[in-house]
Amino acid sequence: MKIYLSIILSIIFIPLQLQAVTNDYWQRPNLIPAPKDNPITPQKIELGKLLFFDKRLSRANDISCATCHDPKHGWADGLAQSIGDKKQKGRRNSPTIINSAYLSSFFHDARATSLEEQALIPIETDVEMNISLEDVIKKLNAIDGYRKLFLEVFGDAEINKENLAKAIATFERTIVSSQTDFQKWNNGEENAMSKAQIDGFNIFNNIGKCNSCHNGFNFTNERFANVGLGDEDDLGVYEVSKSKSRIWKANFKTPTLINIENTAPYFHNGSVKSLKEVVHICGNGGKKPVKTRSPFFRDRKLNNEEVNLVVEFLKALTPPKIEIIIPTEFPK
Ligand code: HEC
Ligand code: HEC
Repeated sequence: MKIYLSIILSIIFIPLQLQAVTNDYWQRPNLIPAPKDNPITPQKIELGKLLFFDKRLSRANDISCATCHDPKHGWADGLAQSIGDKKQKGRRNSPTIINSAYLSSFFHDARATSLEEQALIPIETDVEMNISLEDVIKKLNAIDGYRKLFLEVFGDAEINKENLAKAIATFERTIVSSQTDFQKWNNGEENAMSKAQIDGFNIFNNIGKCNSCHNGFNFTNERFANVGLGDEDDLGVYEVSKSKSRIWKANFKTPTLINIENTAPYFHNGSVKSLKEVVHICGNGGKKPVKTRSPFFRDRKLNNEEVNLVVEFLKALTPPKIEIIIPTEFPK
């Protein structure tokens, strides 16, 4: 009986384990996904880029999407919490937009389900760009240069919230990480990662079990957990779903780890400055007090040396700089 059981178990589990070691599991998809009604075209990318960098999309003409998703800061902003209209501080940390094309939910609490839906929210958010969609659309329709570009891209000069969102989302989809050292190593270039990084990768998967949440080429399963930072005024997903089971347990979306070396400070509230400390917290059962921590954060008892090796590995997830020409002139 025992033998049968172990044979059955190995049939089930061996493929699962193999999945973790074959390179397909971490492989970057070749195609950038896009919705059927919003295909990626070169002109739409250019239009979206102008809009992404254009400060006129804010109430006081002083904030663009790039203010908080700045290519110089790994497409985040380098601040603990972002600063928006009237120098107001939000309560959350700006995530990188690298590889957001591959996500199926957006924001730390996953409250948006497409890049198109997401793109309009910061425009109206009071601590971000703080202008109503009605006003921003009026403003843009008064700029002949934009009307001309919208006509070229959408066959209609009239700017509305749908085509505004489509253009911005299309530009964002093109901000993807190309080959990281880890990707090269995964594709068989043995020297692309150092010995310390390979050891770190093994700790990440085995002792640390980090890959139970940070998996796939974008290093996120897009599920939710709470490391127990204890900021009781931010209930993350619970605020959106109001599901009691989530109140302290499963609050924030697992973020990508691509480019993590360049997007300090960390966590949804930017409360931790060093990557080493983040790995220490994640590898040792989350932060105490445990009241706010979800049970998924098991204590893996990573010691100092193991933490250092995982940090070394995470540096192999830094993509080469994404080369784009930042617009300096905008439609008039
Ligand atoms: C004032 C700073 C600020 C501005 C301006 C801003 N963002 Fe953000 N962005 C943030 C913060 C902070 C979050 C996380 C908010 C949350 O989780 O509630 C975020 C989240 C996002 C996300 C989700 C990423 C993920 O991994 O879930 C995307 C995509 C994004 N912003 C794109 C944009 C676009 C497009 C614009 C312009 C229309 C923009 N942002 C303007 C600060 C900003
Ligand atoms: C149970 C799922 C889970 C496990 C296991 C897990 N993480 Fe995370 N990780 C998360 C979530 C959720 C967050 C975001 C928490 C927040 O913002 O409050 C996060 C955040 C991070 C961050 C900060 C990302 C950022 O942009 O701020 C790093 C780095 C990280 N994890 C690395 C690791 C490492 C290394 C391990 C293994 C030692 C690990 N994680 C284990 C779910 C997990």
